Amino acid sequence: MKDMRDYLGWLEGKGELVHIEEELSPELEIPAFLRRVMYEKSGAVLFEGVKGFPEWKVAGNLFTSVETVREALGVARLEEIGERPLKLLDSVPLGFSDKLSSLGKLKEMNNYLPRVVRKAEFTKNIIEDEPLDFIPAFKTWPKDASRYLTYPLVCFSDPKGVNSMSVYRVMLLNGERGVIHWQVHKRGSQAWRDYLERNDGKMPVAIAIGSDIGTLLTAVSPIPYPMDKLLFAGFVRGKGLELYRLPNGVLVPANAEAVIEGYVKVDELSEEGPFGDHFGFYDKPSERNELYPVFHAERLYYRDNPIYYGSVVGKPPLEDAVIGKAIERIFLPLMRVILPEVVDVNFPEYGVFQGVAVVSIKKRYPGQGKKVLNALWGTGQAALTKVIIVVSDDINVHDVNQVIWAVASFVDPERDVLIIPNAHTDALDPAVPNPPLGSKLGIDATKKLPLEMGGRVVEEVGEDPEVLKKLEALFEKYLGG
Ligand SMILES: Cc1cc2nc3c(=O)[nH]c(=O)nc-3n(C[C@H](O)[C@H](O)[C@H](O)COP(=O)(O)O)c2cc1C
Repeated sequence: MKDMRDYLGWLEGKGELVHIEEELSPELEIPAFLRRVMYEKSGAVLFEGVKGFPEWKVAGNLFTSVETVREALGVARLEEIGERPLKLLDSVPLGFSDKLSSLGKLKEMNNYLPRVVRKAEFTKNIIEDEPLDFIPAFKTWPKDASRYLTYPLVCFSDPKGVNSMSVYRVMLLNGERGVIHWQVHKRGSQAWRDYLERNDGKMPVAIAIGSDIGTLLTAVSPIPYPMDKLLFAGFVRGKGLELYRLPNGVLVPANAEAVIEGYVKVDELSEEGPFGDHFGFYDKPSERNELYPVFHAERLYYRDNPIYYGSVVGKPPLEDAVIGKAIERIFLPLMRVILPEVVDVNFPEYGVFQGVAVVSIKKRYPGQGKKVLNALWGTGQAALTKVIIVVSDDINVHDVNQVIWAVASFVDPERDVLIIPNAHTDALDPAVPNPPLGSKLGIDATKKLPLEMGGRVVEEVGEDPEVLKKLEALFEKYLGG
């Protein structure tokens, strides 16, 4: 799909888009409406009248369901997206005879590569005077410190030239300045640190608003550095992303509804928050003495009749639950590169993604469950997960009852529970006294091998196949097959 408008049209055709004609304010009213829609039935919303922002429409709840996202991205399974880069890696020629088969793959790779174009619709209109005041950014909860951009595509490249495009909330201070909440382990924070160390006064940054659904999804995806996120967008979309280079050098999606061009002054930090977050509590970074960089907006570019897109977070399940599930599926094949024994994974939506995960593995040797726990706590953003349960692959990780049965049947707490004190954890975690320090809980609920049982043999029950055969006709008659 070409852009966000195309996607909205497609949703409309599927009956998944509601138009709201009544004028509503982006401060509390639109967010409250979006939350109610998501809690009650799910569906995208287009607000035709936005109080105080007559030029704009506002779109929300674009990620209506995992199934809709899958269909929009044109794949039979979301896992196919994660498999795309791996298939290409498979084709790296290892010997002379592999060379020819690789040529087809090179062509495929070409299809995913981003392309810089000379024209972008958003360059039609420009505002240089207090540009942030012109944007219908949301205030999502009553005690939020300010209005926020809640789904900005924050675009930048680090001093090595690796491009990123990531979703970090931006708190608006006034018409010209905002605070970017990139957490310490995120690409933005690392790039900013690199600029700081080089003593570069300014880090060029641009913030894009509204794009096609694949690009929006790429921006929240935990792509391992130094893979270029603008390249990864091609894998997600099935086609390379068209980019526009702004005067400050930053590449942004050419199909964006609006783009704010500016910079971060690397030595200028500010307080940020409170902000009502994904767990359903106010995040207050200043209580952790955290300061975040100030973004200076130099100009705003926007399409004719622009459509603003913002996300609304709070107690699950809201739109971010769908986003998280889509990411879980896309990244399963990539997780298997690091941990080939992983069969399936479930980050339950009520676990707020970094709260709880269940992972199933094909277990071959004693202690493997604990190895997987430790590996996950050492891998990218999975490292933030607070509680991880590992089960054997005959347990369906998406069936809570099966997982509980595995915990009840295979866990000897003294042997199978790991607690890691004072680890780096999700700064948003409402349970810990001193975030981002917090403890981790790992439960090895895999079936235990003889060595792990000290020789005790516990035999699992199983039906007699002869009896089952005999009863087949009765099962059919009374139970319907
Ligand atoms: C609606 C929404 C808001 C988010 N806000 C933030 C945020 O304020 N700060 C942050 O570090 N991550 C935030 N995230 C998570 C990041 O987008 C996610 O971790 C992403 O993978 C980071 O990209 P990076 O690896 O390029 O840094 C948010 C995610 C969603 C869905």
